[in-house]
Amino acid sequence: MIIKVLGRKWRGEMSDWRDELIKEGLTFSDISLRPQYSDLETRAEKEGGPTTAICLTAKIELSVPIVSANMDTVTESKMAIAMARYGGLGIVHRNCSIERQVEEVRKVKIAEEGLIREPYTLSPADSIHSARELMAERQVDSVLIIDTAGVGKRLFGLITKYEIANANSSEMVGKYMKPRDELIVMEIDNFPLTEKKAKEFAKRIFKEQPLLGKLPFVDKQGELLGLMTKKDLFRYASYPDATKDENGRLRVGAAIGIGEKELKRAEELLLAGADVLVLDVAHAHASKPMDMARAIIVSFRNSNYELIVGNVATAEAVCDYARLDVSAIKIGIGPGATCSTRIVAGAGVPQVSAVLECAREAEKHKIPIIADGGIRFPRDVSIAIACGASAVMIGTLFAGTDESPGDIIDDNGRLVKVVRGMSSLNVNLGIKGDNFIKAGLKDMIQPEGITGHVPYRGPLIRILGALVSGLRSGMTYAGAATIEDLQKPFSRKFTRMSRAAWEESKPHDVEII
Ligand code: XMP
Repeated sequence: MIIKVLGRKWRGEMSDWRDELIKEGLTFSDISLRPQYSDLETRAEKEGGPTTAICLTAKIELSVPIVSANMDTVTESKMAIAMARYGGLGIVHRNCSIERQVEEVRKVKIAEEGLIREPYTLSPADSIHSARELMAERQVDSVLIIDTAGVGKRLFGLITKYEIANANSSEMVGKYMKPRDELIVMEIDNFPLTEKKAKEFAKRIFKEQPLLGKLPFVDKQGELLGLMTKKDLFRYASYPDATKDENGRLRVGAAIGIGEKELKRAEELLLAGADVLVLDVAHAHASKPMDMARAIIVSFRNSNYELIVGNVATAEAVCDYARLDVSAIKIGIGPGATCSTRIVAGAGVPQVSAVLECAREAEKHKIPIIADGGIRFPRDVSIAIACGASAVMIGTLFAGTDESPGDIIDDNGRLVKVVRGMSSLNVNLGIKGDNFIKAGLKDMIQPEGITGHVPYRGPLIRILGALVSGLRSGMTYAGAATIEDLQKPFSRKFTRMSRAAWEESKPHDVEII
């Protein structure tokens, strides 16, 4: 009788925490997308196949749902420029001085000037002398001529330094300008441009005005809106899916940490034009990072940017951050290739389980989540997104590309590049320097990341292209024309895989040649 009472009592209590304990942790190779009936006839987007466009945050759209990680062996300006041109986004790492990081962000923002909204201008009555002075001072070859007598800025024409080479200094520029009707001028309602328009004008300019480097933009009333260089127009046409801001400049994100200095970092990064701040903390569901998120939101409430926070791996954390009204939340404790958190701390959540759990909570708050870490194969992108992530963040797979920082190393005939976890011993030594070495055992911090080599993989597009192509393919198997389709209803779309099933999934019993 006594045993029965105790037993009943015990069963009730035990079943609570044991249930929790035996919750299974799944990751990418544990599941497979279940093929569904599909109306899609092709995988190519331009021919009616699936589209991979997403909203990374409420304000930022990406044509490709992939973000490069803020690791110092992955994302600086070169990677961020390439990621944005191909339709993704790069997050510049913070393992450097504020000045250096700001410089990297600036390089991305000026890689393509987009629409120059305040071009240098003169009026037809200005002297040749003033035109020469302006051109020399600003180092430009041509200047737009506008009507400065009226209230607006009607475009009259353009002068180049070649046309005024032999003119008398006291003469007026109006005499030498190429009038508006001899110029190619783009009339638009709004910016950014459509791909079709950019291509059409790039071709026209190339044919009709090969020597002129600039294209003025006007509104329907002929008022000057701005100017685009020919080089940028061609880039516009070559990278139609690029991730751009409202002025046509490439978008870029930058990481920040916690503390006063990091608030300053955030301020400088925003001044340099960063579109996204990523509050980057190993365990973000904690009081300090949450206070920092609040401080950023309050300090920069008048700035135009998006705040992404991470990393977390539970529904409770998503709920707490959603209430702070951040723009998106990054999910991933321990899945990264260079990460040893789960081995060192025994803490973390296998990535598919983490994404599924967090996505369910995020849906309630209508907040996007990003699956960060552990992407090894193209299939993992489809799976992370089908589980509810808007985008994936990738580090190690991109570390071997031409666009990542660092040299290509010849390791006994094998070409490799270095990748290092941002909590690795090397990074810690770099930050804390001698103090770290001199510190006693009790002050020693156990690194939660490793340093290693990855095979050199050539240009980023080879890897990124394979990932996007895999995603499109996954979408067609799942019958999903859009990313939204791929995410509903996810519970019916997966098959659990045994270890044997995973072995069967990879090429097998063939010597690959
Ligand atoms: P992949 O697998 O793409 O993952 O390389 C990139 C993500 O890994 C995380 N990261 C770390 N996690 N210790 C960790 O616990 C580290 O040293 C470390 N370095 C990077 C990070 O979230 C990154 O985006």
